[in-house]
Amino acid sequence: MKRVIVSTAAVLMAAMLPSIVMASVAWPKGDGDLANGKKIFTEGKGSVPACNSCHGPEGLGDDNMGTPRISGQFYNFLLKQLEDFATDKRTDTTMFVMNTNAKGLSEQDRKDVATYLASLRKHGDTKVSNLEELKAAGQVVGLPHKGKSLVEWGGNEKGITACKSCHGYNGMGAPPVFPMIGQQRYVYLVNQLKKWRDGSRANDPKGAMRAVAQKMSDDDINNAAAYLAITSFYSSGNTRHAYDPH
Ligand code: HEC
Ligand code: HEC
Repeated sequence: MKRVIVSTAAVLMAAMLPSIVMASVAWPKGDGDLANGKKIFTEGKGSVPACNSCHGPEGLGDDNMGTPRISGQFYNFLLKQLEDFATDKRTDTTMFVMNTNAKGLSEQDRKDVATYLASLRKHGDTKVSNLEELKAAGQVVGLPHKGKSLVEWGGNEKGITACKSCHGYNGMGAPPVFPMIGQQRYVYLVNQLKKWRDGSRANDPKGAMRAVAQKMSDDDINNAAAYLAITSFYSSGNTRHAYDPH
């Protein structure tokens, strides 16, 4: 039985391998209108509120609101999520707002704001979740060192595929399919992993994420999220990687 589970994951990965190979080429930034994208981010448009009112002034997300970091993510993924919200392929069950927001923008606006967000990618690490603070506020927080092992090597007994094999080193992302999940917000990571697990988020190509999350316990989810939230892409001498914007 375990073998069957493992080989399903292997087939999924093989099906996605071309994307992984392409990943070493570039960090897609999009070619929308940066000025319009920035305007939408800071001022909103029509009935759509400014994105920074929920996602933070720099688009780095907010654990108290359960919003994700959206700045510095690659263009294709941001646009796909906005399209998926606009067409209800993905539903936002946190605040019920992203579906309305995405529908309130034109297709070109969505491209423009995704282009702007992708352009906010900076060299070096960024401000991440404060796990101590979250714990003090009563949030269940996992153990980063246990999470690290799941991210890098997976959970062999349960057949959990290593996150790294799709999402790249420390979850730094592997365009054009696998999003950056390292330095993503802790609360958002936990929420999404639970949504993949119970199937309430189902916009993953070939069911790849649902297959992984279904094998994760609450502890696995909290641990992986804790490690990913505070990980560095630049530690362990890994200062030269394909996605350095310089
Ligand atoms: C009222 C608060 C609010 C506003 C305003 C808002 N968002 Fe969001 N956004 C959220 C929440 C909450 C989520 C997480 C949804 C979930 O947990 O399923 C989210 C998720 C997203 C995601 C998915 C990111 C990922 O990693 O999958 C994108 C992209 C996004 N928002 C873009 C935008 C853009 C662009 C704007 C401005 C046009 C915007 N948001 C405005 C609350 C907001
Ligand atoms: C077989 C490939 C594969 C593996 C292994 C994998 N993922 Fe994913 N993951 C994906 C894909 C594809 C998506 C993008 C889904 C979409 O387009 O919305 C994704 C999306 C996600 C998201 C949502 C990101 C966002 O910003 O909305 C999270 C969180 C996530 N993965 C966490 C993990 C964790 C943690 C692991 C390891 C335990 C893992 N993934 C292993 C393929 C994989």
